[in-house]
Amino acid sequence: MDHDIVVVGSVNADLLLEVVRHPHPGETLLGTRSSVLAGGKGANQAVAAARLGASTAMIGAVGSDPYAEVALGELRVAGVDLSQLAVEPGPTGLAVVTVADDGENSIVVIPGANASVSVQAVERASLVIAGARVCVLQAEIPLDAVCRAAELASAAGRRVVLNVAPACTLPVETLRLADPLVVNEHEAAILLGAGTDDSPARSAARLAELGIRSVVITLGAAGVLGVEAGRSWSLPARTVEARDSTGAGDAFVGALAVGLARGNSVEEAALTATRVAAYSVQRLGAQASYPWKDDPLP
Ligand code: RIB
Repeated sequence: MDHDIVVVGSVNADLLLEVVRHPHPGETLLGTRSSVLAGGKGANQAVAAARLGASTAMIGAVGSDPYAEVALGELRVAGVDLSQLAVEPGPTGLAVVTVADDGENSIVVIPGANASVSVQAVERASLVIAGARVCVLQAEIPLDAVCRAAELASAAGRRVVLNVAPACTLPVETLRLADPLVVNEHEAAILLGAGTDDSPARSAARLAELGIRSVVITLGAAGVLGVEAGRSWSLPARTVEARDSTGAGDAFVGALAVGLARGNSVEEAALTATRVAAYSVQRLGAQASYPWKDDPLP
């Protein structure tokens, strides 16, 4: 096996703005501080996995602007294999992240080079996808490329961790390749048809009824629940003081993939992943907030 984990997904620079509270529409608000940090759901998940000691490759794209260096910085330091990462003329993916005093964030993403990660680009990387134990996918690159990556990994007998974030719909055939599908409550509702007011447990059961092998629903401070082989489970979140929740879900997914690559069950992997996510919310930013393998977890 060439890698434990391959991540096919987005790479962004995050322009992080700290504010006392989020602005209302039409309002101008003075913030307290700004930083430019490495982000993007795909890159975040790759860095989370690599910092925990997993051999990790990243398939995606950055642009030709100065933000590319920011976006790649933490991936390089964590030792992620970037040999399949394209550099496209034009802007790198850029996210404006506003973090309020209570740790809650709101994010606007301009895809930039992430939009160039096409079906053909994924197919060019098929050997790397087939050569990793676990393929990790999100929804910040074109969705047909996400579906193709899931097909290639699955056809090679590899495990697919599919994190449908940001919220969107995907063909049920793709969802059925996931083991697990990882979503939050809002993303689960969109997948099941907007407007559903099911409980998280009912949403997980309904997703499993679609023929998805395992389902994980993240609930933030309320923990996580899952369904695997007809059995449901739930785990509490660790209690920590939240500074910034940006990228906590990505830390969870990256750590989950590491546990699965090491042969753990989804529930076992989720237990460690909740601790990794709790570590990350105590610090500012996404990748910069993730633990290294020997850091003590909450
Ligand atoms: O999940 C957090 C991430 O979402 C940020 O790093 C930002 O880049 C957006 O992709």
